[in-house]
Amino acid sequence: MTIPTHTREIHLAARPNGAPVATDFALVEQELPELADGQILVRNTWMSVDPYMRGRMDDKPSYIPPFEIGAALEGSAIGTVIASKSPDIAVGTTVTHFAGWREHSVVDAASATPIDPALAAPQHFLGALGTTGLTAYAALTEVATVRPGDTVFISAAAGAVGSVAGQIAKALGAKRVIGSAGGPVKTRKVLAEFGFDAAIDYRAGDLAGQLAEAAPDGIDVYLDSVGGEHLKVAIEALNPQGRVALVGAISGYNGETDRKAPDLYLAATKEITLRGMLVTSYLPLFAEYIPKAAAWLADGTLRTAETTYEGLDQAPAALLGVLTGANTGKMLVHLG
Ligand SMILES: NC(=O)c1ccc[n+]([C@@H]2O[C@H](COP(=O)([O-])OP(=O)(O)OC[C@H]3O[C@@H](n4cnc5c(N)ncnc54)[C@H](OP(=O)(O)O)[C@@H]3O)[C@@H](O)[C@H]2O)c1
Repeated sequence: MTIPTHTREIHLAARPNGAPVATDFALVEQELPELADGQILVRNTWMSVDPYMRGRMDDKPSYIPPFEIGAALEGSAIGTVIASKSPDIAVGTTVTHFAGWREHSVVDAASATPIDPALAAPQHFLGALGTTGLTAYAALTEVATVRPGDTVFISAAAGAVGSVAGQIAKALGAKRVIGSAGGPVKTRKVLAEFGFDAAIDYRAGDLAGQLAEAAPDGIDVYLDSVGGEHLKVAIEALNPQGRVALVGAISGYNGETDRKAPDLYLAATKEITLRGMLVTSYLPLFAEYIPKAAAWLADGTLRTAETTYEGLDQAPAALLGVLTGANTGKMLVHLG
């Protein structure tokens, strides 16, 4: 195989003001550096598209540094090693790494993880078998533990984390799993494809009334991906000693002011536990999670969906899309 000397990558062209737009990104051709000892060259085949990337487009202190204007974005990707100066990773190996948003990546072998292609199709290692699935699993086993007989409420239930989380909640013995999603097409999928017991269309309004109807005896666990009104309504619906995994707050990622703040005095009087999480703190759980999830995928316990955009030039559209609900299941870019 000819080793390329150049690649194409997606740069941050401008910081968004509110919702990002296509002109905040630029497709740039870049020379590839020579491989140093211990490095590998990966031809990327799939890229993960994740809502948290919106936060990195702002110049604000956070748990992860902002993207720089004029520099490439980065994120999880999977690809094939086409050149190697590492004794640990041979040419031909399929690896995941964090230097995505480009067609080829030069990475230190130590920061790449070979995957077992026999377990599942490679793109699953960015979704159900990747940090997406691990987020759902850690949220419901470590952060807001689901106990047999619980009623569980999952927001963004047609999305990547949410669709997996609903099914994991069932596998953990939840009596009733309720999901919220935007629009009737997605709520139908939440029921028919992901096996939830009830689905709420939050765009239809009266979230509190819809949740009360779906969970007349209240909820015991809430996985929050949305924040804002969802969190407020969930805290009102939670039973005493209820548990909330604070996973994300996508309703505020574009900086809109949310006036529907939750009443945290209810959390005090109902002895509710609200606990935040970053999946990066739970990476050791992969050893326990991957064999379980691979078996669930193989026997049909875990059903997944993907929304795929083709080609690096479509990556900005995919990111705008994941923020506005264009995806069902995992949002991916396929690089061929
Ligand atoms: N803490 C961590 O370590 C961690 C790790 C992974 C993900 N997360 C968070 O988990 C959440 C889900 O991530 P994901 O990768 O699985 O994305 P995803 O759910 O596949 O995609 C995001 C979904 O959010 C929904 N959404 C957008 N705006 C909304 C709004 N204003 N109100 C309600 N729903 C809205 C959209 O679905 P609808 O069409 O249904 O609106 C969209 O499809 C995000 O908040 C993300 O930041 C956190």
